[in-house]
Amino acid sequence: MNIREATIDDLLGMQNCNLHNLPENYTLRYYLYHALTWPQLSYVAEDEKGRVVGYILGKMEEEPADGIPHGHVTSISVLRSYRRLGLANKLMKQSQEAMRDVFGAKFVSLHVRQTNRAAIGLYRDTLGFEVHGVEKGYYADGEDALHMRLNF
Ligand SMILES: CC(C)(COP(=O)(O)OP(=O)(O)OC[C@H]1O[C@@H](n2cnc3c(N)ncnc32)[C@H](O)[C@@H]1OP(=O)(O)O)[C@@H](O)C(=O)NCCC(=O)NCCS
Repeated sequence: MNIREATIDDLLGMQNCNLHNLPENYTLRYYLYHALTWPQLSYVAEDEKGRVVGYILGKMEEEPADGIPHGHVTSISVLRSYRRLGLANKLMKQSQEAMRDVFGAKFVSLHVRQTNRAAIGLYRDTLGFEVHGVEKGYYADGEDALHMRLNF
């Protein structure tokens, strides 16, 4: 398994991985915007054939309300048969490191469904994120989101 910075050529593979794993989907244009604006913040995990089996789509918050530069995880997922191998953990750490070192981020934030046990386990227990608030009805189906943060 190889983890490396995502390139424009990976965008379809990332979108495919996203469509298999999550109800929150994005236009190819939005992936492209991430890749062109913050190329250091998105990574892929690929198998031995070069197929994208996991990705993280990361960005910097463009107009932070408090004026503090910080990163944001737009999306992360790993194909089912490649889970519990530590891939998401590594993808998160690579992106976080670049948010801090390249863009001077002071913290990283994200939203997660409050019923998403696997993701909350990853963020809170493995990476040390804390719940910063709850956003009522954040998702299209009405589920609340936990707004989580990790200070660097
Ligand atoms: C959440 C997700 C990205 C985790 O990917 P992964 O590569 O399997 O995660 P890792 O192997 O790096 O796991 C790291 C830690 O996260 C936690 N974790 C991961 N999956 C878990 C699960 N199913 N239940 C509980 N904790 C879990 C564990 O603490 C794990 O450490 P451990 O394996 O040493 O116990 C993956 O389950 C996924 O793609 N889910 C669907 C998409 C999704 O929900 N994305 C997040 C949207 S906010």
